[in-house]
Amino acid sequence: METGKKFFEQAYKFGNKRIEMGLGWPIKGVGDELKEFSKTIKKYISNGKVLDLGCGEGRISIFFAQNGFEAYAIDFAKGAINRAKKFAEDAKVSDKINFKISNVLALPYADEFFDVIVDWSVFDHIEPKNWDLYLKNVLRVLKPGGFYTLSVFSVNTPMLDKKWYYSGDAYFHFFTEDDIRKTFGNYFEIINIQEKLKTQPPPTFMFYHVLMRKK
Ligand SMILES: C[S@@+](CC[C@H](N)C(=O)[O-])C[C@H]1O[C@@H](n2cnc3c(N)ncnc32)[C@H](O)[C@@H]1O
Repeated sequence: METGKKFFEQAYKFGNKRIEMGLGWPIKGVGDELKEFSKTIKKYISNGKVLDLGCGEGRISIFFAQNGFEAYAIDFAKGAINRAKKFAEDAKVSDKINFKISNVLALPYADEFFDVIVDWSVFDHIEPKNWDLYLKNVLRVLKPGGFYTLSVFSVNTPMLDKKWYYSGDAYFHFFTEDDIRKTFGNYFEIINIQEKLKTQPPPTFMFYHVLMRKK
């Protein structure tokens, strides 16, 4: 259940130095794809509750809080939540974000509590044996018709020679578009799926960014 916790706790101890070291993350701000997805979401919901799964340093919760939403940010890494709280204070949105140290596989929220759930590179760190449990949690706390947006590693990442691997205690999974449709298509209408190469900051990864709506 706690796969990757050591890896991520360690990562947050490095703080901004990870970027200087070329390790690529955590980054600040959100990319164009999430801005585009949030515009689509805003056509249907102008405020409401957003759950930021595996929030890291909170950039996504901060973005949604700045755009009129009430954000709930959870991560199992205490170091991530501590840094996220500080960045939310700096951005003057701490009163709009509820932080919690918790596992995405045991979501501590009521049924159908959220209008939007965001998973930006967290599902791709969940081992396949826990995918059903992950989905059960997400489906339970998301309202019918609620939005779910996902960013996961693509198999088309340059130089990739296998579909999954471990680095320390962390798991990395790489998806085809078909994998995404098969895993999520029964429960969600897939509104938008786009594949994008991320080169900056290094290292380079190909990602799938997906916007879905609960059936
Ligand atoms: C690659 S980082 C992405 C962080 C953030 N979503 C972002 O885009 O900046 C993955 C995050 O998911 C968290 N995480 C991974 N597995 C988790 C789990 N089972 N429960 C809670 N958080 C988890 C890690 O601690 C880490 O902060």
